[in-house]
Formats: sequence, C-alpha cells, structure tokens
Amino acid sequence: MKKWNNTFFTISNVGEKVTLKGWVSRVRNLGGLLFMDLRDRSGIIQLMVKPEKACYQKALTLKNEYVIEIVGNICKRENKNPNLKTGEIEVEVEELEILNEAKPLPFDLNNVTALEDTRLKYRYLDLRRKELKEKLIVRHKIMLAVRNFLNKEGFIEIETPILCKSTPEGARDFLVPARMSAGKFYALPQSPQLFKQLLMIGGMEKYFQITKCFRDEDLRADRQPEFTQIDMEMSFVEEEDVMAMAEALIADVFKEIKGVSISLPLKRMTYDDAINFYGSDKPDLRFDMKIEEVTDLFLKTDFTVFQNVIQEGGIINCLVVKNQGDFYSRKEIDKLTEFVKTYKANGLAWLKWGREVTGSISKVISLEEKKSLEEKLHLEEKDCIFFIASKREIVKQALGALRLKLGHDLDLIKKEAYEMLWVVDFPSFEYSEEEKRYVACHHPFTAPKEEDIEKLLTDKAHCYSKAYDIVINGYEAGGGSIRIHREEVQEKMFEALGFTKEEAKEKFGFFLEAFQYGTPPHGGLAFGLDRLTMLLTGTENIRDVIAFPKTASGTDLMSECPNEVDEKQLQELHIQIKEED
Ligand code: AMO
Repeated sequence: MKKWNNTFFTISNVGEKVTLKGWVSRVRNLGGLLFMDLRDRSGIIQLMVKPEKACYQKALTLKNEYVIEIVGNICKRENKNPNLKTGEIEVEVEELEILNEAKPLPFDLNNVTALEDTRLKYRYLDLRRKELKEKLIVRHKIMLAVRNFLNKEGFIEIETPILCKSTPEGARDFLVPARMSAGKFYALPQSPQLFKQLLMIGGMEKYFQITKCFRDEDLRADRQPEFTQIDMEMSFVEEEDVMAMAEALIADVFKEIKGVSISLPLKRMTYDDAINFYGSDKPDLRFDMKIEEVTDLFLKTDFTVFQNVIQEGGIINCLVVKNQGDFYSRKEIDKLTEFVKTYKANGLAWLKWGREVTGSISKVISLEEKKSLEEKLHLEEKDCIFFIASKREIVKQALGALRLKLGHDLDLIKKEAYEMLWVVDFPSFEYSEEEKRYVACHHPFTAPKEEDIEKLLTDKAHCYSKAYDIVINGYEAGGGSIRIHREEVQEKMFEALGFTKEEAKEKFGFFLEAFQYGTPPHGGLAFGLDRLTMLLTGTENIRDVIAFPKTASGTDLMSECPNEVDEKQLQELHIQIKEED
C-alpha cells in the first residue's frame, strides 16, 4: 500500500527519505537536471533527477501519465512555487520504478481545451484533473456530514428497493422487464416516496437514506436521469418540525464544507408571492428586481395592445432595470425580445426613462400613464423598463426568466453568497394544459391544509397543501411535505386527481391497505445531493459533480449505453423490437 500522500510533506520534512507513488504529470528536461511533477489524489510534488544517478537513463524515458514509484530525499527547493502546497520542497530521486506506461492521452490534462463529449468518453482520465476530483471529494464530505448529523438526531439509514412498482412523482418511469413474469415490468424508483411512508407505518419513526432516483424526463443543466436524493421521513411531526430539522441539517453541512454560518430560521415566502414577484417557485434572491404589477395604471389606456390584453383578463407587469439606459441599445433589446418569445410572450414593450422618455411604447401611452409609472416605480433618469402584457402565467414565467437573464447579463448577482429560503403554501393542484385536468403539484400523498380538505373535489384551484421547498440561489435544493395519513383523505385525493376507485386500488392498493392498520402522522423531505454539491462547489453543470454522468440526451459516452442487446436476451424477456416504419 502507498505509505504517504504527496502533499503530506512540508519544509519540516527536509532530509527525510521517502517512497512515493503516482502519475507523472509533467516532465521538464533542463538539459541536465530532469524535473517532474508527481501527482497522486492529494496533489503534486516536484521530483528532481540528477544526471549522475543510476536511474537517470530510465527517468529520461518517462512520459506524461506513466505510473511510477520512487525513493528519494526531500530537499529545500530553490525556486519556490507559492501555488503548490508542497511548493517549498522537492524530492531528489535515488531509485525509480516504472509501474505502468501510458499511451499519449486523447487530451491534455494540464490544459483542457477538449470538448465535453471527449472528456465524457474518457471520463476516467478527466477525473484525474484537480477540478473534478475536488468536487467529488466535496460530495463525499457532504454525504459524511449528512450521515453524522442525522445519526446524531436519531435517524436511521434504511435502504429501499430499486426494482419496484412505479411511484407517481410526475416524470416518466424507467422500466425493467421481469424475466420471471412474462410481459410484466418493474419500475426504477423516481424516489423512495411510498417506501418511506411505509417505513413510518412500520414504526421506524426517523428514517433517512442517500439513494439513487431515476426519472425519464427532459434533461437540463441541473437534471440527470439518475440522480441522488438525501431522503428523510419522520413520524409525529408537523410542517414546522420537518422544516426545522431540514434547515438545521443544511446549516450544518454548509458550516462543515464551507465554514459559513447560515442564520436560522430561514426566510419564508408563499408560493403565490414567489410567482407574483419573481415569476418562479424557486426565486433567486441574490439580487433584487421584483416583477412589478402595473395593470391598474392602464385600465383606461388608449394603447390597443394593452387594452385588448386587459379585456381578455390578462395582466401587464414589468421589470425596472436601474440606471442601465445606456447599456440597452435597440439591438440588445431585440435580443431580449427574442428571448421572451421563447416563453410564449408576444413581445417586449420597453421604455427608457429620462427628461425625454423614449422606447417602443413612449408614443402610445399617455402623459398621465407615464406620470403614474414614475410614481409607482420610483423611476429615475436612465432606468429601463421592460413590460410584458399577456395571460398571467405567460407574463410571470417570461418576466421571471428575463429577470434571471438580466441578473446574469448585468452581473447583478452577488458572488459567493448563499440566499436560502423556504417556499411554502403550494397549491395542491396545478392545471395541466397537456392533460386538460388538474394534476398533483407535488405528489398525491401530500396533505392538503386542514381547511381545504372539504374543497378537494369542488374547488381545486383554491386548495393549498402542507408542502415546502427549500430554495438556494435559485435552485430547488429540496422539497417535501406533511403526508396524508388518513385513508379517507387519501381516497378523496385520488378521486380529486381523477383516479377511479379501481385505478387507485390497482396502482396503490397495497399502500391504501397499509393505512388501515394505524398510521402515524408523518412528513418528510428530500434534498437533491447533486444540486447541493453544485452549490457547494460553485458549478452550474450537474455533470461536474457526478463521477459518471449522462449527456443531455441521456447517454453514457464512455460505455456507449444505452445499447442494443442480444436477440437471446430479448427472447428471455419476451420482448420483440418493433421495426421503425
Ligand atoms: P422532488 O421530486 O421535489 O421530491 O425531489 C426532491 C429533490 O430532488 C432533486 N431532483 C433532481 N436532481 C437532479 N436531477 C433530477 N432529475 C432531479 N429531480 C429532482 C431536487 C428536488 O428538490 N419524494 C419527494 C420528496 C418528499 O416529498 O419527501 C420527491 O422526490 O433537488
């Protein structure tokens, strides 16, 4: 076994004889003296081989990424390197053994210009880089901190099945054909939701698990088809208990990993406020700029576009960008208009404030309207105002997205800051235009607010739930709820979601039955471990925090999966592949 890590040594070890093993990271032949960087997981130490040494000829054959073992003496270095932990010392090599040679790498680890696809194909090489390695180490430390904290709080880690019956978290399932039950399938869990509730019925009281979840959904920069949750559930709790435990856990993790103190309790914002002011249920509070409601100011407008929108029940909202009048040329604003169109807005109206007000609607709105805008929005010289008029959902979503874009483009986002909050009071249902019906906003086991139980079947648009999401810097880092624990409420919820009694029985019969044998009140939450690691390592790419991630189209470029399988395997699974038409 390797006795020492490279970076264990400092100036205080000068004169010691050491044996080191690792990869040759860089070779510099200065005509006589040969210098090398030796890399192991802990970092780099400089080696030096003098021409008179017996191993010199062998050392001349070394190339990048050869694996070697050396014996040598630690010396003080002449040219110190303040960027290296071991920058004050080097090792004068006496003996050298080549443990393995290496072909030239497909990309240079010291100067990465390769495309991400190439790096993913050779992920095991990319992992040798400090940047990726350090992120995986942080991920490990987060898991350790979580386990220590939850263990201290009396939680026990329990594993739940990976081959299971489909769980309704809202995404598509990954299915696994069951060889021993022809024509039947397991589903990979979208989360351990049903199992953790059954563990509460099983009397476990405080459960957690760091576990893989699988969702076949469109991928984004913060989404992978298989990702990891820190999943928790507790019995005999109310919303406040779960939120207090979860935020204490997060504060502990941020302290352990970053040394930052998060002040508790965290801020709270209702879902309705989050949508109204930030156009998102995961508002990024690292910068100001709320969405402003100005419909009222245009109730009597002569401007037909605004008139029509108001008549059709729509709204007019805007964003005020302070003191950026000079930044936004017509060309820049055209780009913003194209951007909001991707969110279904028809256009982006704008004004630049000043002694003379200019902009796309400066000539079509009245002087009074300008005055009331100035008063309501506290407008000053060089402010830019961007308006969207449309259906409420479109206005909020498009301005929410524009707000984030402006925040990034104008560098308004506080660096090295963590803005955390709870978003609470989610609606129980949301209307799916695609399915033309109300679907669960979280999942079907989320408890409605007590006062809304009687409205579940009659007024779905106004039912709120005991659900909460924890949002950090605009990411949904975790979410959960108090669960329904009474069978009759669960049945009513299934009915509200459009399941017939037979369908509910077929899908969740075992679960509903379990509710008949003494179910404690319970609730929980799950954090996305990948997203927490992104936040704690400062990356916006989820692939950076997963050892072997999938591409945006769900493939693994290294092992080339998904792939076709043998006809024999298909036959055993009773599966026939349909030819494409
Ligand atoms: P939810 O679906 O909100 O809740 O998931 C919990 C957290 O998991 C993370 N997450 C993801 N991370 C990466 N890629 C994905 N595709 C992905 N999907 C979700 C997010 C999210 O906040 N069973 C419930 C939890 C509960 O009610 O206790 C659940 O799964 O950070």
